[in-house]
Amino acid sequence: MDLLRFTTAGSVDDGKSTLIGRLLLDTKNIFEDQLAAVEQASHLRGEEYVDLALFTDGLRAEREQRITIDVAYRFFATPKRKFIIADTPGHIQYTRNMVTGASTAELAIILIDAQRGVLTQSKRHGFIASLLQIPHVLVAVNKMDLVGYDQGVFQRIQAEYSAFASKLSAPSLTFIPISALLGDNVVQRSEQMPWYDGSTLLHHLEHVSVGASRNLVDFRFPVQMAQRPHAGFRGFAGQIASGTIRPGEEVVVLPSGRSSRVRSIVTFDGELAEAAAGDSVVLTLEDEIDVSRGDMIVRAGNLPQASAALQCTLCWMSEEPLNPRTPYIVQHTTRQVRAHIDQLTYRIDVDTLHREPAQTLGLNEIGRVRLATTQPLFFDSYQVNRATGNFILIDPYSNNTVAAGMIRRADQDVADVAAGTAERPATARSSNVVWERTAISQEMREQRHGHQAAVVWFTGLSGSGKSTIARLLERRLWALSVETFYLDGDNVRHGLNGDLGFSAADRQENIRRVGEVAKLAFEHGHLALCTFISPFREDRRFARSLLPEGRFIEVYVKCDLEVAKRRDPKGLYARALAGEIQEFTGISSPYEAPEAPELVVESDLVSAEDAVETIVAELAARGITVS
Ligand code: ADX
Repeated sequence: MDLLRFTTAGSVDDGKSTLIGRLLLDTKNIFEDQLAAVEQASHLRGEEYVDLALFTDGLRAEREQRITIDVAYRFFATPKRKFIIADTPGHIQYTRNMVTGASTAELAIILIDAQRGVLTQSKRHGFIASLLQIPHVLVAVNKMDLVGYDQGVFQRIQAEYSAFASKLSAPSLTFIPISALLGDNVVQRSEQMPWYDGSTLLHHLEHVSVGASRNLVDFRFPVQMAQRPHAGFRGFAGQIASGTIRPGEEVVVLPSGRSSRVRSIVTFDGELAEAAAGDSVVLTLEDEIDVSRGDMIVRAGNLPQASAALQCTLCWMSEEPLNPRTPYIVQHTTRQVRAHIDQLTYRIDVDTLHREPAQTLGLNEIGRVRLATTQPLFFDSYQVNRATGNFILIDPYSNNTVAAGMIRRADQDVADVAAGTAERPATARSSNVVWERTAISQEMREQRHGHQAAVVWFTGLSGSGKSTIARLLERRLWALSVETFYLDGDNVRHGLNGDLGFSAADRQENIRRVGEVAKLAFEHGHLALCTFISPFREDRRFARSLLPEGRFIEVYVKCDLEVAKRRDPKGLYARALAGEIQEFTGISSPYEAPEAPELVVESDLVSAEDAVETIVAELAARGITVS
């Protein structure tokens, strides 16, 4: 029996939950006791009808706990077909419904309230469906009962929406007049609308063609987990994103580039002679090679693209607008990589489909961006492969999904950089600037230096002891032959940042510049020691975002403000308290303590020497230096 995955989209109160409830009820996918409970609840609320939305909304509480992709899948079946509905809580964040799980949805139901007609949101949903290349769009004109089942209303909506959709690279478009509340044309044919001779909504869902949009050519296997249940067995578990594979075929593991052959395809029910897109399997290989979560196994001779600079279409799904200064996490297949949006090329006006210049994207807005990742992604363009061409952006602090994206192509202007010493999120103001790659790679430098490159970022109040500790640390590291590079707040403000003061904006710029300098040092294989008050979380976050995971070590030099005031090594607290220095951290300007630093040293409790030993041990434990 085949399967149709679909999503639903509607504006607030268009009746999405009611429709799903109605489908479940009329297809007998709801148990008697659930029905009784919902009937009772509706009754208690004094409602005239059974509130079908309670079937879906009532079940939500249990899954309100945060998961990265805020989506629940609802299953139901009829004798003809199985169905999976991607359903998401929250009425306002309607784009989420469509965008999440979109890489597999083959149909989108767009709900239009017959009373309200075609809204901007309805167009937005159609536009997103076309961006997502969802092959079938079903426009359900709902609440027909409230417009007296008037054929004219239905026809006007159909004409207006068709005119809009003709401007899209439109998938197949079907219109059905329904009343989700009363069940007209959902599962049962309506007696109220004899003028409509098309199929019911369920009939359409049961008969629409499926499977045509799947990519069965390009084998892509994002590894979820390496398994070694016992010595002698080593396999890699995951779900085949696209393509097919058979034992004996030659494969390449990315990013390492190592090749091997598939020895066997193992599943719960035994070994397979062939597996295809959608199958969850364990692959074993002929050769012992290192493969871990986030790697991708592909067929030799059919490689995906690799780039750290990507041109993408982005659907923004967060109340917080896009911020080019914020580092995000890209979740792409099974991989998570840090990234930021380094160019917003344009925003799309959903009503007119025109491009317009924009500084940011707000909730539900769609735009074209360039995404800069700290490590290259292995991808196909969304047009060719929905599974490896889509991603989501996650806010690393709240863990919320803030956007969904579709990769159009690698960014040619900066693509070359990806192969160089490091991937450069190009923030070049002028398009005539190119990144000159050096012939000596970071790895070569690290090898010669005998340690890994990293940035140790000290943050803390003035007088907390950052510089004292860093200077001592540098002497210790010197003795260990570590190539350090020291950047200090006061020093840098004599030269490079001599033009900056202490307003929030200037501090931000201060940290931006030194973050970039630290990154250059990092790329040259150094261990950069940075001592800056860096009082703002956001700014430290930015500095962190420039480096790969694990190479930015934030050391919070924690010191009681009273102790720092007493120490007052430069006499600045006294002057700040006397009002001679404005915006002094801790006195007249805030200090935001780190939430999750790699290390905390309490300089009012331990000696600088002990703090240094702790840091040295931490660097060794992280494999940055050899102990
Ligand atoms: S940051 O806030 O932008 O990170 P940074 O570490 O570069 O500050 O510089 C801090 C140093 O500048 C302090 O150690 C202190 O010597 C000096 N300073 C002068 N005015 C201020 C001020 N208003 N706030 C904090 N530090 C100040």
